[in-house]
Amino acid sequence: MLHIGILCSGGDVSGMNPALKHFVEFSYKHGLKPYFIYDGYEGLIDDNISEATYADVAGIITKGGTKIGSARSKRFMEKKYRTQAKQNLDLHDIKMLVVLGGDGSFRGLDIFYKEHGVKFCGIPSTIDNDINGTEYCLGVDTALNVIRNAIDSVRDTASSFKRAFVIETMGRDCGYLALVSHLTSGSELCLIPEVAYNLDNYVDEFQTQLHHGRRYFLAVVAEGIKDDSASIATWFEDKVGIEARVTVLGHIQRGGNPTSYDRLMAYKFVNYAMKALLDGVNESIICYDKNGFNLKSIDEVAGIKKELDPELLQFLV
Ligand code: F6P
Repeated sequence: MLHIGILCSGGDVSGMNPALKHFVEFSYKHGLKPYFIYDGYEGLIDDNISEATYADVAGIITKGGTKIGSARSKRFMEKKYRTQAKQNLDLHDIKMLVVLGGDGSFRGLDIFYKEHGVKFCGIPSTIDNDINGTEYCLGVDTALNVIRNAIDSVRDTASSFKRAFVIETMGRDCGYLALVSHLTSGSELCLIPEVAYNLDNYVDEFQTQLHHGRRYFLAVVAEGIKDDSASIATWFEDKVGIEARVTVLGHIQRGGNPTSYDRLMAYKFVNYAMKALLDGVNESIICYDKNGFNLKSIDEVAGIKKELDPELLQFLV
């Protein structure tokens, strides 16, 4: 019986638990023995590995986060710990891995494959949606829905008080979450790291709108922009002339009940990843675009800055 392991690495996303559930179901259906590796590559190094059963995944499809934990492992960057990790995999006779994570996690995995021949398939998983080669990363839809709900709530209070709100989204250096949230929440201003801006250009227009009766402004800004959110709020107060507040959405964006879309994508990502491994594809990332799912090499995915979709960018005014 072929033994296969799964781990989560980097920032957790809602969708990891549904992926774990399908991993176990797929494994048993195809005569594989599934293993959970806890706390990312840390679990590989520390032999925090155990066989996964149906009982382990019962009821987890509704839960955000990841039942098996995640981590950003510094030790896995060191050769001696990767050797230890391989010894632990050998103890359990695990020959292949499915890894849910971002491009840093995949790069480490590739080195591991080259050193020790452990086959893998990576599943792009990050709310930032910043992995090159895939239009969709697991967890993005849930994060967008969490953000939408939050902005809708902020709108209620903003409109009651005649205030501007600066709402900061995550995304690291990528403006995807902010841009999509701006378009789907109808905010007045969106600032993202990919597009240079000059706040002076908005002053006249915003003051005119206030003059004509506008009660409030919503500004969605990505965490990766050059200014901090507090300074954007100060700009609203000092230059536009409206009281302002900041809402940093923070880690709530990473949690929450996975949306139907993320549950379905988790199912499909796992299905294609495991099929690839069974078909003898040894080192790949399962990606998704308008044409469907396709396998890409590590070099096409990791370490390359992802460009924001030009179609979305053209809507940023
Ligand atoms: O990569 C996902 C992410 O949530 C980013 O959007 C954010 O910048 C970062 O992780 C936060 O990391 P941590 O959970 O370590 O604070």
